[in-house]
Amino acid sequence: MPAKWLKDAVFYEIYPQSFKDTNADGIGDLNGIVEKLDYIQSLGCNALWINPCYDSPFRDAGYDVRDYKKVAARYGTNEDLYRLFDEAHRRGIRVLLDLVPGHTSEEHAWFRASQSADQPNAYTNRYIWTNNWFCGSRGLNYIAGEAERASAYIVNFFKCQPALNYGFNRVEEPWQLPMDHPDCVATREAMKDVMRFWLSHGCDGFRVDMANSLVKYDDENKSGTSAIWKNVRAMLDEEFPEAALVAEWSCPSQALRAGYDMDFCLNNDDTGYSTLMRDYQGGGEDDSYFRKDAPARDINRFLKVYTRWYEDTKDLGYISLLTCNHDTVRPRFSLDIDELKLAYAFLFTMPGVPFLYYGDEIGMRYLDLPTKEGGYQRTGSRTPMQWDGSKNLGFSAGEAASLYLPVDPAADAPTVAAQEGDPDSLLNFTRKLLALRHAHADLQADAPFAVVSAEPNAPFVWRRGKLLLAVNPFGQARTVKCPAAGMTPVFTHGAAKVNADGIELGPQSFIVLE
Ligand code: GLC
Ligand code: CA
Repeated sequence: MPAKWLKDAVFYEIYPQSFKDTNADGIGDLNGIVEKLDYIQSLGCNALWINPCYDSPFRDAGYDVRDYKKVAARYGTNEDLYRLFDEAHRRGIRVLLDLVPGHTSEEHAWFRASQSADQPNAYTNRYIWTNNWFCGSRGLNYIAGEAERASAYIVNFFKCQPALNYGFNRVEEPWQLPMDHPDCVATREAMKDVMRFWLSHGCDGFRVDMANSLVKYDDENKSGTSAIWKNVRAMLDEEFPEAALVAEWSCPSQALRAGYDMDFCLNNDDTGYSTLMRDYQGGGEDDSYFRKDAPARDINRFLKVYTRWYEDTKDLGYISLLTCNHDTVRPRFSLDIDELKLAYAFLFTMPGVPFLYYGDEIGMRYLDLPTKEGGYQRTGSRTPMQWDGSKNLGFSAGEAASLYLPVDPAADAPTVAAQEGDPDSLLNFTRKLLALRHAHADLQADAPFAVVSAEPNAPFVWRRGKLLLAVNPFGQARTVKCPAAGMTPVFTHGAAKVNADGIELGPQSFIVLE
């Protein structure tokens, strides 16, 4: 059973290097997050996911961890992070850190020992080494020619990220250890030790990076990797029962059965996130559902997978919809401000626990930038938060050239300050939506969801508990037949009203009926 506080949780994802710089070195820091907690609270967000803030050579922006228990100097100190936990809790805000259990940096002390000529040692099998200095095996990426010991090692992502050894579900070669090998069990225990460390200092849980990929040659159901998470969950239930885990797995049917509270609905081929708001890959026509003039709009592209997951997992935990994250393009890439309002109206009234990526509440743009710290095309979604019209748009008092990434150079770059006083701004619309969600138990994570009307090229109508909701992303008015007679609006955006046999929806409108 998911932690109770998740029922009404709305997360705000913070990319720490790009949120708020308080010492003018051009890089966001933990004190900057503390400084902006009141702002985050004013949005209606009551939980944070902070991307990796640990000691790292930053070859994958911190997903290459050099020391799991130490805050990176550029963000501050461990004490600053403990203070952040405290200050957040005083405002009723929970804090999830990012756990990267699958791999470390090649500069991690475990890897330094594991690759050394001095063998065997306590870390010999902490990573996956082949028995040949020059090769790997089926389907696994290996690096040869880097280590002192005469073996090649398996990597998970970039070259700098050697895979930790949780064992193989099906062993094919003598050097592949089974999952119950004591050295593989030791890897799992080491990761539990990292979790205990942060949880005992006040952290409320973790977003787990590449959560589905720990055990190699796993079966279709990921039973090997799932067994590890079940073991972790048992520890949490016993020692930290309020702790929450959200998976980067994108298969809730597996993740929630493995003990996760939530799993992200990311892109899977032609389903998920990119059907609502376009992602990079989308060559050809942009027919994302919330585009006003999408050529072939069909909410069923999203629903066909979502509803299957939802029906399968609604009693186990939550699916997390997101405005975007640090790996995707920002939704402003394909949607304008009016379109974003409708997309957010949908995202923040669906079941599960929603995530808002910093800056999406003001419609920050995806910028076309050269790669930074292994970001490649993801870099454009990682630019500094734009607070106001002052130097560097309020992100940093440092020199523009020292900034982690440039701010939006456009004359109309969105900022918090410019949108604060405008009742129609995306910022204030987001606040209204989140206030609506908090005010109605029927809009929260576990209230029932049912599709009422989902025709291709038509508005979408759905039910949450006793509420009926409808969104019309078209630039023209539409009428939908549905049982709405006698219901009264609790929220209306654009022109929308009930008639005798359904709902009349003006261009780009949204309505919630009671
Ligand atoms: C996840 C992270 C991504 C990172 C990768 C490797 O997908 O979200 O940013 O590069 O894992 O850790
Ligand atoms: Ca700084």
